[in-house]
This record gives sequence, C-alpha cells and structure tokens, in this order.
Amino acid sequence: TKVIIPINEITNFHSRAEEFFPIEWYKHMLENHPVYYHEATDTWNVFKYEHVKQVLSNYEYFSSEGTRTAIFVGDNHKKSADNEESPMNLTNLDPPRHRKSRSLLSAAFTPRSLKTWEPRIQEIASGLVEEIQVDEPVNIVEALAGPLPCFVIADLFGVPLQDRYQFKKWVDTLFQPYDESRLAEIEREKEKAAREYFEYLYPIVVQKRTNLSDDIISDLIRAEVDGERFTDEEIVQVTMLLLGAGVETTSHALANSFYGLLYDDPSVYGELRNNLELVPNAVEEMLRYRFHSSRRDRTVKQDNDLLGIPLKKGDVVIAWMSACNLDGDMFENPYTIDIHRKNNKKHLTFGSGPHFCLGAPLARLEMNIALETFIKRFSRIEPIKGFELEQNLTGSATGQSLTSLPMKVYK
Ligand code: HEM
Repeated sequence: TKVIIPINEITNFHSRAEEFFPIEWYKHMLENHPVYYHEATDTWNVFKYEHVKQVLSNYEYFSSEGTRTAIFVGDNHKKSADNEESPMNLTNLDPPRHRKSRSLLSAAFTPRSLKTWEPRIQEIASGLVEEIQVDEPVNIVEALAGPLPCFVIADLFGVPLQDRYQFKKWVDTLFQPYDESRLAEIEREKEKAAREYFEYLYPIVVQKRTNLSDDIISDLIRAEVDGERFTDEEIVQVTMLLLGAGVETTSHALANSFYGLLYDDPSVYGELRNNLELVPNAVEEMLRYRFHSSRRDRTVKQDNDLLGIPLKKGDVVIAWMSACNLDGDMFENPYTIDIHRKNNKKHLTFGSGPHFCLGAPLARLEMNIALETFIKRFSRIEPIKGFELEQNLTGSATGQSLTSLPMKVYK
C-alpha cells in the first residue's frame, strides 16, 4: 500500500483560504527555494517550470512506480490499484508497461468520441443553466460546477437519465474528503457505495456487450491492444478510475473559474460576453492561475543531477505544477489574470509527458461549453456582500474546494 506524504507539513498553511490560493507561498518558494529539501518528509520539492516538466516527463529518471504519494484520492480500491495486472494501475506504471493500459483506455477518448459527445454535454449544460433563477442569489457550485462533470460522465457511461442523481450520490460518497474524525464511518459509507455502484453498473456493462453504442463503456468493450481486452469487471473498475480522476477535478476547475470571474478581475466577464471567442483562452488562463493544488510525486530511478542537485536512486521528488504555472521565466506578469496571454496553454495543470491527463480534452470541452452557455444567458454577475471564503471551503483531493459560491446574476 501507498504511504501518503503529509503535504501540509511542507506547506504549513494557516487557513483554508491560504491553501485555496497559496500564491504567496508559491511566490516565496519560486524566489527563495526553487529546489527545496524538506527534512521531515524526506522529499525534494521543485517549483520552477523547467524542473516540474522534467520531473513529470523524464520517466527514465523519475518514476511513477514509487510507494509514496502526495495525492490523496478518496477511493477505497487499493486492492485492485496495487495489483500490477489491474487496468486501474495506470498512473503508477512507467513506460513501456504503462503503454498497454494507456492505449486500452485511450480508446474511449479519441477526437471522434469527443465530437459525438459535444451535443450531449451542451444539452446537460443548457439544462442546468436554464434552471438558474435571476431573482435570488445562485450558488454556482450547486447549480452548475458540482453537477455538470458528474452528469456528463454518467451520460457518457450510458447511465439512464433518471438515475443520474443516484449516480452523483455514489460519486460524492466514494470521493468524499478525508476526515480524521470520521475515518471508520467514512470507510463504511464508501464500501457500501462501492458495492451498490458495482451492482448497478455491472449489468449495464454486460448488457452493452451485445448492444454497443456511442459511449465510454462501449468504447472500452471494443478496445483491444495486443490481443488483450477488458473484462466486464475491469470495465467497472476503469469507470471508477475515471470518476476519481475526472469529476472532482473538473468541478474544482469550473467553480474556481467563476471565483476568478467574480473576484480576480471583474472586467473579464463583460469582455467575454462581448466576444465569446475569447472563452477558450480564458479557460486556459483559469487552469493556469486558478487551479491551485496540482502536484505529483515521482521516485528517482537512477542517480542524476538534472535538477542541479545530486539526486540518489530512491529519493522522492514532488513536482508542484500549480506553482510552476506562476514561474515568471515562463509566463510574463504571472500573478495577474490575462485572458489574452499567448502561451497560457503551456500551463502544466494537466501534467506533462507519458501520463499527461487523458481526460484533458474532455475537461476543456466541458469548461468551454459550461462557461459559454452561462455567459450567453446572463449579461452580468456580481459577488454577494459578506461572502466569507474561509467558511465556504472544504478539504478535498484537490486541496481546498469551494462548497458554495453565491452570486447575483442578471439577464
Ligand atoms: C492524469 C489533472 C480531468 C482522466 C492526470 C494528471 C493530471 C490530471 C495532472 C497527470 C498525473 C501524473 O502525471 O501522474 C486533471 C485536471 C482535470 C482532469 C486538472 C480537470 C480540470 C480529467 C478527466 C478525466 C481524467 C475529465 C476523464 C474522465 C485522467 C486519467 C489520467 C489522468 C485516466 C491518468 C493518465 C495516465 O496515467 O496515463 N489528470 N485531470 N482527467 N487524468 Fe486527469
């Protein structure tokens, strides 16, 4: 089993709000300790863009096969994830072994799939946006950012529409945040949800085998690499991997984008409304500037000094992607939101190299459709007076996430 690196011993944040947007800490580390050894956790930490990219992508020196992780994913499927043969074991493998799992899974994420999904994502986004009322403050987390990614993936799995609220309940339970005071209870809830989820989805997979259509499960059934295919059980496990990787992350990115529109630079909203063609670049800028908790660990595979220090085999290195997105050597005026920035797509929020996020095109599509649909409908948004960030955050796999973000909207 994996040992979780207690990241907060490294960061030492004093409040939820500070962890939600650790810009001062990132700045301090970038300027003073770009390569930082932290004794208590015995980790090397890198913050500069070039270093982070190197650590994430140079798998001959920096391996994903370590036994320690900086990522707390709230699932309880350690059993299958630790099994080397399991298709769940995607993020923990180096090439060439990584290649097969990745190719099998990629079958579900081709550009062609994305094209056929676009109208379905649009329909879900429009449905949610149309329900938003103008006469009362709207909590955008509850109304759009929370449900959208979960409903989209349910639809792409081929889950019937009427079951999507039940589906979201399972997902919320399976990936609920770590809470020291309720460990045993949470474990029980997760086991129950995992069992129910399995019992629900397994027959859907079996039924699809003889009735293939345009969805992720059908694509996974069709996928074949070197004569190997997924079994029905493996497909259910893979869907859990996708839920863990793709739901909370995308919700977080969406909620934080709205936070950025409300509080970072209120002029951006009007600009986007006047020119919707700017939305894709605004999405990239939000991913660069407003996604704060992206980081990954790797284990040194061979002695090297690629980071300018003598690293030994077995050393653990943490690559801080969200910090490197603020590196002034890569991004001009890094601490301001600039939706016209030419190179903001170079952010490393989705990683880099062989493990580059498989769902990035889907996440980008969801964010673009959600923002565009929302902006088309509402001419103006305003923060609510007295909104206290600290009281509206909760710990999660993505660091601190907004539980509520109220705003006023105008037709
Ligand atoms: C991998 C971030 C959305 C599926 C990754 C990695 C990052 C990341 C940083 C690289 C991990 C590493 O190098 O070890 C994000 C962010 C998202 C997002 C910020 C939303 C804004 C999604 C979605 C899906 C998805 C929507 C699918 C439904 C995956 C998978 C991997 C992955 C399967 C593993 C790839 C591999 O190890 O080869 N993601 N992700 N992600 N992501 Fe995402």
